[in-house]
Amino acid sequence: MKILVVGGGGREHALCWKIGQSPLVDTLYCAPGNPGIAELAECVHIGADEIDALLDFALAEKIDLTVVGPEVPLTMGIVDRFQAAGLDIFGPNQAAAQIEGSKGFSKDLMARHHIPTAAYQSFTDRDQAVAYIKQQGAPIVVKADGLAAGKGVIVAMTKSEAIAGIDDIMLDKVFGTAGSSVVIEEFMEGEEASFFAFTDGKNILPLASSQDHKRVFDEDEGPNTGGMGAYSPAPVVTPQLHDEIVATIVKPTIDGMADDGHPYVGILYVGLMIKDGKPRVVEYNARFGDPEAQPLLMRMKSDIVPVLQACARGNLAASSIEWHDKAAVCVVMASGGYPAGFEKGLPISGLEDAAQINGLMVFHAGTTLKDGAVVNNGGRVLGVTGLGDTVASAINRAYQGVAKISWKNVHFRKDIGQKALNR
Ligand code: AMP
Ligand code: GLY
Repeated sequence: MKILVVGGGGREHALCWKIGQSPLVDTLYCAPGNPGIAELAECVHIGADEIDALLDFALAEKIDLTVVGPEVPLTMGIVDRFQAAGLDIFGPNQAAAQIEGSKGFSKDLMARHHIPTAAYQSFTDRDQAVAYIKQQGAPIVVKADGLAAGKGVIVAMTKSEAIAGIDDIMLDKVFGTAGSSVVIEEFMEGEEASFFAFTDGKNILPLASSQDHKRVFDEDEGPNTGGMGAYSPAPVVTPQLHDEIVATIVKPTIDGMADDGHPYVGILYVGLMIKDGKPRVVEYNARFGDPEAQPLLMRMKSDIVPVLQACARGNLAASSIEWHDKAAVCVVMASGGYPAGFEKGLPISGLEDAAQINGLMVFHAGTTLKDGAVVNNGGRVLGVTGLGDTVASAINRAYQGVAKISWKNVHFRKDIGQKALNR
């Protein structure tokens, strides 16, 4: 088979690493890829949101299966375009990708199908939104309706913070048209976890549990990021809770999407808040998590390609996934200053030394080549991912790798995986 992976971050590096091990694959392409991916796949110089160029490439190369990593091409309708041209592609179509692309869409879906989540209201009028905040009080959560690269959520501890958030989104339009409409919702306490399931629109194949670390500093301090590290399995998701999540959230979501006329195909990412053993939905994403994909794919024992193909072709019922009976921990190494501004183009040392460590993978995210050297080129730069018999040994392995690698102003959290150990 010829497979094309769309994207160029740590998630796509992990996907290429896993897909490339399949005996079914003859040629693996990645568009646009990155220097780490270039060691495993042929990188194609087409951006992840250049849908016309991606389609031309896939038709010319007779690609058998395209796997979409990031949300932007999904919400732009890449799946609809490829399918119309007769190509197999893994991911939701444009109508189904609204589950991530519009917070209002996803909240209405949950309300209609009785899926547990925070109470909410949507607004397109600034004054009505402000009146609602004054009436509800704080803490309260304000969300831009559309995609905002993970930054459109304000968890406000005071009413004035929430109102300032409304003004940023609706008056100053800091997220552009993503902020034409806002969702205001109840603040939920608890512990977050990430839950993923493959689906062909009818059948569901859940993945192992995982947990992200969203805040930039240790002990969940500082601003939210795209994710500073992740591990799997996550003991907060007990086997009993796993079954409850599937029964009360994942299945009603997939059935609800089908009943509403836009069946969801691909991988569904459910961000959960767990309080007193009860799960509620924080948000949906229409794709694999980043960095959750890195530890999950390192733990996946069976071939992923038949599962991706079965989702795309609507015959997932007979598929299964085997997992290594091990834990995996991914520590994100980021540019100092992220999630705000940072310096780019700084040479990274120690990558060859880290590559010598058994059971360790250094997945590239925001890297590029400058004069033949790997330099930082984004906020999240590397996902150093270790496998171990226990979470503790996977943590040790990951931080052994981190200790070998450095560049000017590098920042990483030192407590990735601690929540699992504290249980
Ligand atoms: P989202 O982009 O919707 O995942 O939100 C980003 C982050 O904001 C989440 O991972 C949570 O940490 C936090 N968050 C979002 N909604 C809520 C909520 N209703 N209550 C508490 N925290 C929330
Ligand atoms: N890890 C968070 C995300 O992928 O959105």
